[in-house]
Order: sequence, then C-alpha cells, then structure tokens
Amino acid sequence: MDKVAIVTGSSRGIGKGIAKELLLAGSKVILNGRNKDRLKATQLELLKISKDVHYLCCDVTNTDESERLINYAIDMYGRIDIVVNNVGVSSRGTVGESQPEVFERVMKSNFIGSVLPTIHAMKFLRKTRGSLVFISSVAGIRGLPGLAPYCASKMALRSLAESIRIEESDSGIHVGLVYVGITEIEHNKESISANGSSVILDDRSNKKAQSIHYVAKKVLQNIKRRRFITTLSTIGVINAIMQPLFPMLVERLIIKSKKKIGEKSK
Ligand SMILES: NC(=O)c1ccc[n+]([C@@H]2O[C@H](COP(=O)([O-])OP(=O)(O)OC[C@H]3O[C@@H](n4cnc5c(N)ncnc54)[C@H](OP(=O)(O)O)[C@@H]3O)[C@@H](O)[C@H]2O)c1
Repeated sequence: MDKVAIVTGSSRGIGKGIAKELLLAGSKVILNGRNKDRLKATQLELLKISKDVHYLCCDVTNTDESERLINYAIDMYGRIDIVVNNVGVSSRGTVGESQPEVFERVMKSNFIGSVLPTIHAMKFLRKTRGSLVFISSVAGIRGLPGLAPYCASKMALRSLAESIRIEESDSGIHVGLVYVGITEIEHNKESISANGSSVILDDRSNKKAQSIHYVAKKVLQNIKRRRFITTLSTIGVINAIMQPLFPMLVERLIIKSKKKIGEKSK
C-alpha cells in the first residue's frame, strides 16, 4: 500500500497505532498533534519501521493550521491518498450538571477538528480517488447517559460522512466511518469533566478493552476494502443492529444498566 497518509492526533493512542499499521503496510505517514515533544518521540519510535514518517505540530480545530497540515503533506510528497480524522476527546457528566463550554469544546475537537482537515484535503483526495476516514465511537450509535457531548459529536460524524459520500459519489473518494469500542489507552489520557476541568482516565489494563493494534488493523481493513461503516466490539455490533429496529427496547436496557455504563466509561 504505497500511499501518502495523514493521521490527525497520532502522537499517541489509536492514532499512533493507525500510523504504525500504515507504515508497516508501506505507506508514507504524516503524524499530527499539538505537543511537539510527544510528536518527536513518536516519530523517533516509528522511524524504526520506515524513514517515511514526518510530523506537523498543529491544532486541527484551527482552520489555518488544518490547511497547513494538508499543505505540508503536499509539499512533502505531492499527493494525499488517505486522511484519517482521528482527533477526539471524551467527556463525563450528565447534561444537567455540565457547563455549556464542555459541549463547545467537545464539538470543536471531535466535529470541527474532523471537518477542517476534510475541507482542505478534499481537492487532493479527488485527484487520487483516496480515502477519507472518520474515527467515531460505539458511543456515536445512540445517546448514552453521562456522555452526551461525546455521543453528539461522534453522531455528527455519521451525518458528515453520509453527506460527503453522496456529494463525492462521482469523484471516487472512499468515505469510511469506524465505530470504535472501549480500547486500551495510553498513560495520562485526559477527558473533560462536567465542570470543564481535565480528568486523567483510569488505566484500562484490567478491564475488557480492545487493543490499539486490533483497532488499527480494522481501520486499515476499512481503507483497503473501501467500506463505509466498520463497527468494532460485540456491544457495538449488537447496538448497531438493535438500535434502528428496537430503539425503545435498547433505551429500557440502557436505563437498567445505567450505573454499569457510567463505571465502564470511566
Ligand atoms: N480510547 C478509546 O477507548 C476510544 C473508544 C472509542 C473511540 N475512540 C476515539 O478514537 C480517537 C483516539 O482516541 P485515543 O484514546 O487514542 O485518544 P488520546 O490517547 O487522547 O490521543 C489523542 C491524540 O490526538 C491529539 N490531539 C488532541 N486534540 C488535538 C487537536 N485539536 N489537534 C491535533 N491533535 C490533537 C493528541 O495529542 P496532543 O494532546 O499533543 O494534541 C493525541 O495524539 C478519538 O477520536 C476517540 O474519540 C477512542
């Protein structure tokens, strides 16, 4: 897979895992994140796989910086074949207890942070009939308690992807959407609490979580097979089937297990 790929938010976690798989498959990769030291360390680690790994430190929620990221790939390689919109932050807390700014921050990161690189990359992806992939979450299939900003931001990616698929149906761009289940996290991963402060998430090593390697492989499969939707984890698949058919039953089941969901998403 000799492609040129940009993975937003790839200095750690799932984004880094996707970048690694792309490099192993023979692609050239532009990493991205806001923390330069972390990016440098990740690049150094991935250089062991391939020399074709570069990074641009920028915030994808800023329109000029997003454009800079896309132009960086063009300046470097003259083409873009794959854009994986992976940047995302989660939130905790009920709607009633949340500060309004939590919604703004989560939507800006997860939705606007995916829209901006997409807008700037579109003309280049048309030239290569490339892939545009959005990293959603099983929390984006239906609204869940205590996660409303996150669910809404991830659900918004679905309608974005649907619109683009139709708008670009003649241009040959592949648009993929991956619903990721609960996955391993790197140390010090942050979430936004109801009052707007950052909280460090608990380690997931003793919880049932998908491996980053597994998720990254599935993202590559989505790209190679040019699939629209890839749903990961058993609960994700069950939810995706049940929700459109029996929404009221799903709601009742979720109300019953409200406490458990709160615990699992910590
Ligand atoms: N982990 C899970 O269980 C899980 C489950 C379902 C879906 N997902 C989704 O998978 C994606 C990755 O999750 P993760 O757990 O790997 O997250 P993570 O460990 O927090 O990593 C996020 C990455 O994005 C970068 N980033 C954040 N905001 C950015 C911005 N505005 N501009 C540029 N880079 C930015 C971070 O680096 P800097 O902070 O240095 O910018 C980091 O490299 C997210 O969309 C998430 O919603 C994760």
